[in-house]
Amino acid sequence: MRIAILASEGAPYVKSGGLGDVMEALPAALSRIEGNEVVLILPYYKKIKENPKYEVEQIAQFYVGLGWRQQYAGVMKLTNRTDGVQVYFIDNLYYFGGRDGAIYGDMDDAERFCFFSKACLDTLVNLDFIPDVIQCNDWQTALVPTALKAQYGPLLPNTRCMFTIHNVEYQGWAHGDFFDNVLALPWEYRGRLDMGGSVNLMKGAIECADLVTTVSESYAKELMYPYYAHGLDRVLSDAAWKLTGITNGIDTGTFNPETDPALPAHYSKKAFVKGKAACKAALQQEVGLPQKADVPLLVMVTRLAGHKGLDLLCYMARRLLWEEDCQLLILGTGEAHYEDYFRELAEEFPDRVSAQITFNLGLAARIYAGGDLYLMPSKSEPCGLSQMNAMRYGTVPVVHATGGLKDTVPGADENGENGLGFTFQSYNADDFLASLKRGLHLYRNDRKAFRALQKRGMEQDFSWDVPAQKYMDLFHKMLEQ
Ligand code: GLC
Repeated sequence: MRIAILASEGAPYVKSGGLGDVMEALPAALSRIEGNEVVLILPYYKKIKENPKYEVEQIAQFYVGLGWRQQYAGVMKLTNRTDGVQVYFIDNLYYFGGRDGAIYGDMDDAERFCFFSKACLDTLVNLDFIPDVIQCNDWQTALVPTALKAQYGPLLPNTRCMFTIHNVEYQGWAHGDFFDNVLALPWEYRGRLDMGGSVNLMKGAIECADLVTTVSESYAKELMYPYYAHGLDRVLSDAAWKLTGITNGIDTGTFNPETDPALPAHYSKKAFVKGKAACKAALQQEVGLPQKADVPLLVMVTRLAGHKGLDLLCYMARRLLWEEDCQLLILGTGEAHYEDYFRELAEEFPDRVSAQITFNLGLAARIYAGGDLYLMPSKSEPCGLSQMNAMRYGTVPVVHATGGLKDTVPGADENGENGLGFTFQSYNADDFLASLKRGLHLYRNDRKAFRALQKRGMEQDFSWDVPAQKYMDLFHKMLEQ
C-alpha cells in the first residue's frame, strides 16, 4: 500500500511533544509491514536546515496557490535515512526556514500550516507518488482532507484520507476572512469550516476525512462530551460513525532500559532492582537531591501546561511534603506561573524538591529509570506516552483515569495487585493525593508487592506493531468505502 503521512513535527528532526514521537515510530512501523511504501512529509524548519546530520537534495519546486498568493515551495528529499521511510521536507524561507524559536505560536500559524498542507498535496502530485491513503495529524494538517475533496479530486481521485486527532484543544481557528483570503475553496465548503463566523480547520477535517481517529479508545469516547471536546462535541458526535481510537505505542527500540545510552546503568525486566537503584542514586546526584536509597522519589516529565494536572499538584504539594517523607523531581518547561511555582518550591525544600525547568531528553530517560513513582494527573490526556516510558523503565505510574491513561494504566488495588499503577477517578487534588499515598504506602510497607507491580509494567508490550496493524485495518476499510 502507498501511504503518505503528513505532520508538522516528527522526531528526530523536530519535536515539541508526543506528536513528534508518534511521527517517528508510526511511519517506521508501517514501513516494516510488507508491501507498504511510506512517505513522511514535514516542514523544513530552520533547525532541520541547519542540522548537518540531515543530508538532503532538492528534487522539485513549484508554487502553491493560497488565495491571491502564489508561494514558492521546494521539496527536499532526505537521502540518509535507512529504515525504508522516505522523508520529504517542504522548504519555504518565509514560512519555515527563516524563523527562529518555537515551531508554533506565530501570529500567522494558520496561514503557515495551510501553506504546508497544500504543499504536501502538491508534492504528491508533482512527484507522481499517488498514495492509496493519506494519514494527516492535528490542526496543522487539517486542511488536507478538505482540500483533497474540494480541490485535488481530479488529481488524486482514488486517494483516501484519515485525519488523526492527537489533541482537540488546538483546532486551527482563523478569522472568517481567511476562507476567501487564504484558502479560496469553493463556496460550498464555507459551512464545513464555519464555527460561529470563524474558520475552524479541524472541524473541516472531521467533516471531510474518510475516517477520523484519535490516539486512545477512551479519548474517542470522551470526545463526544463537551467537557473534553473544546467546542467540537457536536461535530464529533455527528462523525461518531467514522471515529475510532487507536492507542499509541512507544518506540521500544529507543526506550529500552537494557540499552539506552543515556542511562548510567542498565537493567532488564528479569533483573532490575540493582540497576534501578544505581540509576536512582546517579539521578539524585545529577539533580542535587540527597542520595537516599529508601526515600521514595516521585518524578514527572511534562510540558508545564494546564491540562497536565499541575494545578492539582500545586494545590497539595506542600501537604504531601509535610505528611510524607519523599523527594519530588520535575522536568519540563511551559507556562511561566508553573515554572515559577516549582522553582520556588525547590528553593523552599532544597533537600526534597528539584525543579529542572528545561527540555532535556537524556535527563528525561534518566528520570524514567531513576524514579519510583511517576506522576501524571492530567485533566485530559488523549493518549500520553510518558506513562508507558515510565512503566517500561520500571517506574510505577500514578494517574488520573482519563483518556489514554485509563487505557494503559489499569488501577492496582490497595495491596498492589492486579493493575499497573495507582489511579484516581475524579479530578481533584485530594483524590490524587490519596492515590499517591497508596503508592507510597506499598513502597514502604510491602516492597515485594511493589516490585511485582514494577515488573508487570516492564512486561507490557507497548511496541508499535499492534497499533500499526490497527491503522492498516482502517486503511483497508477506507479503500473499501
Ligand atoms: C498529544 C497528546 C498526547 C498524545 C500525543 C501523541 O501530545 O496530548 O496525549 O500522547 O499527542 O499522540
